[in-house]
Amino acid sequence: MFIAFEGLDGCGKSTQLDLLFQYLKTAGKKVIKVREPGSTEIGEKIRAILLDRNLNINERTELLLFLASRAQLVEEIIKPALNEGYFVLVDRFADSSVAYQGGARNLGIENVEFLNTFATNNIFPDLVFFIDIPVEIALKRISKKNKDRLENEGKAFLEKVRNSYLYLSNKRENFITINGEKTVEEIFEEIKSHIQKFI
Ligand code: TYD
Repeated sequence: MFIAFEGLDGCGKSTQLDLLFQYLKTAGKKVIKVREPGSTEIGEKIRAILLDRNLNINERTELLLFLASRAQLVEEIIKPALNEGYFVLVDRFADSSVAYQGGARNLGIENVEFLNTFATNNIFPDLVFFIDIPVEIALKRISKKNKDRLENEGKAFLEKVRNSYLYLSNKRENFITINGEKTVEEIFEEIKSHIQKFI
């Protein structure tokens, strides 16, 4: 089973992914976790380019680099793991490109959805947990750390990212929107309730 975690930087998705990873492991399930961009040797090299604050990357170049990292991740890790019956947990996947590049960078939601299908060879998550927080809270939470290039974009950019995610949550059946202002425990209870029927 393939599960993605999505949301604004600072929404708490990585914490929830780790909790689910431990939970599935304890339940005796085969499970792996990966992050995007990255997780393969090629992907980590691409990640370093994408997050470098000193580079001035054109937005189409940016999208294609995210897609290249994803294509490699699918072939090298995700597809083989799914074939062996693993739970695959990803910290961001195709919908990050839809929201950040398609929505916020104005490259077009449908364009990015089409290119994602090519990059992933039509492999998409069974479930996407979108942990939704208001932009003000995201900014407060990420102000504490040393920001990477995309986190540096500011309020208007993040509003567009959030609105794109909210658009997807109305459109997609596998998209589960969770209120990220709840406590870590409450959010995890909600995630578990959606996973229960699959374990
Ligand atoms: P991430 O590693 O999730 O950052 P963090 O660990 O700080 O939460 O993602 C790095 C940045 O890349 C993040 O700002 C979102 C952005 N991103 C895109 O713009 N498009 C994409 O397709 C992906 C996967 C990430």
